Amino acid sequence: MKYLTLCAALLAAPAAAQETPQNATREEGLAAWERIFTVTSHPRCTNCHVGDSGQPMWEGLGYKPDAVHGMNVQAGESRIGAESITCDACHVTSAAANTVPHAPPHIDDAWRLPPVELDWLGKTSAEVCAQLRDPDTNDGHDIASLVDHLRNSAFVAWGFTPGAGRSAPEGSLDALVHDVNLWGAAGTPCATN
Ligand code: HEC
Ligand code: HEC
Repeated sequence: MKYLTLCAALLAAPAAAQETPQNATREEGLAAWERIFTVTSHPRCTNCHVGDSGQPMWEGLGYKPDAVHGMNVQAGESRIGAESITCDACHVTSAAANTVPHAPPHIDDAWRLPPVELDWLGKTSAEVCAQLRDPDTNDGHDIASLVDHLRNSAFVAWGFTPGAGRSAPEGSLDALVHDVNLWGAAGTPCATN
């Protein structure tokens, strides 16, 4: 009987860990935010989450820090390079795994830059925190729809499993989703307020 109870508890544990938190203290929320920021400040995300310059970044695989995308690639106002050469001229749409170092990464979506307001490159934790909790600067999302994006975006999935020798942010997509929910349950606190 004891054995059965133990088994039931072990089976229930992973599900419980993934439950959406309903309440959280400010301290728990701030700690969750800091873990979120280690992801959003990782080059796998900031290489695309750039601002007005419209120039994506290259990082790792031997590139120097702050290397901008080669071949003078400019995303332009279209954010897909429609004004010069489009991203999909090289970054094809394909669900196949990325295996070849230095090849243009591909995902099962059209490769492009996010809207300018989602510029995270070089920003502090407090700046990105304020950006991401405000629908005016996070592409119009509340916490539930942010979580939805994280769960369903081919960009985010690729960021955690880029392959081809590229590093990934610490943790996992599940952990990130859990932290965003925790941050939301705490009222999206930022260190500054
Ligand atoms: C190849 C470029 C690219 C990469 C890499 C990328 N993103 Fe994005 N991201 C986008 C685009 C484009 C959007 C705008 C929404 C859309 O078109 O899907 C976006 C939007 C977002 C949003 C706001 C939700 C929304 O609907 O606008 C979040 C949050 C986000 N990305 C998180 C991440 C995280 C976390 C990573 C790294 C693990 C990452 N992104 C890597 C392109 C990228
Ligand atoms: C002429 C071909 C070409 C075009 C056009 C192009 N890219 Fe790339 N891109 C590449 C190659 C090649 C790499 C890989 C470079 C390497 O790792 O040595 C790359 C890598 C990237 C990376 C780095 C991914 C990472 O985190 O390692 C981003 C971000 C990126 N491209 C965004 C874009 C965007 C956005 C556009 C359109 C505005 C675009 N690229 C257009 C060839 C291209």
